[in-house]
Amino acid sequence: MSLTSLARKFFMALTGLFLITFLIVHLTVNLLTLCSDPELFNAASHFMATNLLIQIMQYVLALGFVIHIGMGVVLTLQNNSARPVKYAVNKPGENSSLASRSMIYTGLLVLLFLCIHLYNYFYKMKFVGVHDDYSLVVNSFKDPLFTLVYVVAFILLGIHLNHGFQSAFQSLGANHRVYTPWIKKIGVIYSVIMAAGFCLIAIYHFIF
Ligand code: HEM
Repeated sequence: MSLTSLARKFFMALTGLFLITFLIVHLTVNLLTLCSDPELFNAASHFMATNLLIQIMQYVLALGFVIHIGMGVVLTLQNNSARPVKYAVNKPGENSSLASRSMIYTGLLVLLFLCIHLYNYFYKMKFVGVHDDYSLVVNSFKDPLFTLVYVVAFILLGIHLNHGFQSAFQSLGANHRVYTPWIKKIGVIYSVIMAAGFCLIAIYHFIF
């Protein structure tokens, strides 16, 4: 593997771990919509929208997404061109796992979700002048199609995170007889909590 593709993998891993951390914060804040007092979520949302450090972090987050997605696409194109003989002939399982080959597809679908999602909330809150963030979020899940699209996206995100978690540690050089199986286990737990947590919010507001 060339030095540039090693560097790309390194930056993908670093930005991936950063996005993994963002999701923990994002899920925690959104779980507040399950509390009976709407002011709790509105206060947290207001804090996130006005705190200077969080405002700066939003640019870092956007940059993290751009680097992660850009490098992911380049690495996939590079891998495909380095392998002119197609997998069907080439025994896919011996070259790479299904999980790693599906990363680009689950990643691009999560990107599609992200565009829809930013329009649904970020755009409406920042540019359309919606002030009651709690009502916007809660009411959006009254639409069954909206909820279905979100739940499917969360499951795809969970699949993406499950492989991404352990892959990030591997790319950063953490390959260890004892630790690697643990990293894999933590990755499974993390991705299930993320997917189930976001699904819980969507389904709860759909039903109640
Ligand atoms: C039930 C699930 C979710 C809910 C209710 C939700 C809600 C929100 C809301 C209300 C905002 C606007 C925040 C603001 O601008 O003040 C937002 C922004 C955002 N969401 Fe989500 N979100 C969910 C899931 C996700 C997932 C799974 C991802 C990532 C794949 C994600 C990525 C983002 C990003 C990148 C932003 C813009 C950055 C920010 O404003 O913090 N969200 N979300």
